[in-house]
Amino acid sequence: MRANTIKILKDAMKGEYAVGAFNTFGLEITQSIVRASHKLKKPCIIQATTNAMKYAGSKVLGDIVQSVIAHESNSTQIGFHLDHGKTFDDVVNAIDAGTDSVMIDASCSEFKENCEITSRVVKYAHEKGVTVQAELGSVPYLGREEQEVDWEQIMTDPNQAKELVDRTEVDALAVGIGNAHGFFRERPVPDWERLKVIRSMIPNIPLILHGASDWTEEKVKRAVTEGITCFNIDTDIRIAFVVSMRNGLAQEYGIATTDPRKILGNARESAMNKIEEKILMFNDQ
Ligand code: G3H
Ligand code: 13P
Ligand code: ZN
Repeated sequence: MRANTIKILKDAMKGEYAVGAFNTFGLEITQSIVRASHKLKKPCIIQATTNAMKYAGSKVLGDIVQSVIAHESNSTQIGFHLDHGKTFDDVVNAIDAGTDSVMIDASCSEFKENCEITSRVVKYAHEKGVTVQAELGSVPYLGREEQEVDWEQIMTDPNQAKELVDRTEVDALAVGIGNAHGFFRERPVPDWERLKVIRSMIPNIPLILHGASDWTEEKVKRAVTEGITCFNIDTDIRIAFVVSMRNGLAQEYGIATTDPRKILGNARESAMNKIEEKILMFNDQ
């Protein structure tokens, strides 16, 4: 069933477990996420980036997500979130498409600018009953940054995190503690001490860890203990989906198969298995 993202996050904080925020771009992946969450009876968040919204059409994707939640799960709470909104217009489009929370990612801007745009988004979103995630510090991407980064320069500054929350009244914060998107080489050890300080300075704000696809169970558990409430997963779902499609085309039905439902159906199941694995890793209660 549909639930507010912020409620899902606050419940997780209270219960000392974490949730996954899983990226979708269309029907099959959305079903993988909803079915995994329904089967395990554990909450999760479905999120779409601005690129995914553009790919499918934001209103179409919004309708797909809301419809799959309504028809395929009455057992668990599922939120719908905009991931990595970059502009005010991205936020407006996502809210029009039905998200109940949005991310404004101004992490590449100067601190003052990040506060300004986050504040503007918070004012607009809160009036519509929508909550907001900001990002401070940066979580690099392979291909968009050099493979080597100066982690000390780009990780979240705890004092700024507090200032940003106080100034903007943002509801959740994506942090950088040595994590990175996709296959980017991460900091050998996450900066646990930094996370602990951030947690203590903004104790009521859910902290989000982007780039969690390659996080091991051991790291995830430690991160939950130190205060992470939500892990973002995109790459691992894409891999499960595409590898299954490739295998399907190459082996199971032969290259001449004319029924894409066979290939997409198996890919949907592979993605669902991967998502179940992640949900259990984040929340084994
Ligand atoms: O952080 C988000 C992604 O993994 C990149 O997604 O290709 O839909 O922008 P995108
Ligand atoms: P991964 O690339 O590690 O799956 O991270 C996804 C993410 O952070 C989406 O916002
Ligand atoms: Zn991300």
